[in-house]
Amino acid sequence: MEEKMKVMGVVGSGQMGSGIAQLGVMHGLDVWLVDTDPDALVRATKSISSSIQKFVSKGQLSQAVGTDAPRRLRCTSNLKDLHSADIIVEAIVESEDVKKKLFSELDKITKASAILASNTSSISITRLASATSRPCQVIGMHFMNPPPLMKLVEVIRGADTSDETFRATKALAERFGKTVVCSQDYAGFIVNRILMPMINEAFFTLYTGVATKEDIDAGMKLGTNQPMGPLQLADFIGLDVCLSIMKVLHTGLGDSKYAPCPLLVQYVDAGRLGKKRGIGVFDYRRVPESVKPNARL
Ligand code: NAI
Repeated sequence: MEEKMKVMGVVGSGQMGSGIAQLGVMHGLDVWLVDTDPDALVRATKSISSSIQKFVSKGQLSQAVGTDAPRRLRCTSNLKDLHSADIIVEAIVESEDVKKKLFSELDKITKASAILASNTSSISITRLASATSRPCQVIGMHFMNPPPLMKLVEVIRGADTSDETFRATKALAERFGKTVVCSQDYAGFIVNRILMPMINEAFFTLYTGVATKEDIDAGMKLGTNQPMGPLQLADFIGLDVCLSIMKVLHTGLGDSKYAPCPLLVQYVDAGRLGKKRGIGVFDYRRVPESVKPNARL
């Protein structure tokens, strides 16, 4: 099926959807990028063009592909434009109800052979598939952030995902230059199942006064050779996202060891959502020179 893949649809043009669409056009697919918010499409078009240019200027992409790729991108707010797509990758808001509604609409609009993939971080592929009449063609295609740079794609097989759908999805991810790991459809899949409890435990370590945030991160960074500490990583992912994934693990696996740390809950309640809000565990706001102590000395 993959050899025939020529057209990809991506629904949701935020951080992830724009990166996935970029991979598609850089690898010779025609891509329809859909978003209900026209401003998001404008932002995505700009960020895709500038990222492609960076690949070209670093010599990682030929000039010819760099010129061709942006022309392969088409933006729309009309889902019906996806009727010709061979595969649709959904990257909208992480809400099961909203995603189910979308999958049900995609099922009606897209051609019968199309694969419906979700980039969800944590929602059950089996349940999304149940909103369609083609559960054997529904699959998880979980890119890491940012998709053009990160090497991994986690492919998740729902209860009814067919071998053919799996093979075609894996082949597409490999065409994008990615390494594929395959997970069965249980809460958190592979990466978040292991990563999020580590982050949650780092919060417990801080909450119970075992160490300072700086020492927790330095300990894990230098002691286990991670590029950044778990608390900073949580800030980068977004503390609200970490909390919602912990809740999915807790509910889905039914074990109290996945209960979110009260400190993580409190930070989210306080709006300390991480780097995107300027403050999470760490403070990312720039202090103006004039209010820095001894600024004039
Ligand atoms: P985002 O908030 O940056 O983008 C979501 C986009 O979807 C927005 O532009 C919004 O206007 C659009 N949208 C919402 N509902 C829509 C609908 N019904 N139809 C069309 N467009 C709609 O979100 P982000 O971070 O790109 O995440 C998207 C998905 O990817 C989520 O499921 C998330 O869990 C998953 N994910 C996120 C990662 C991350 O690091 N941010 C990593 C891996 C997966």
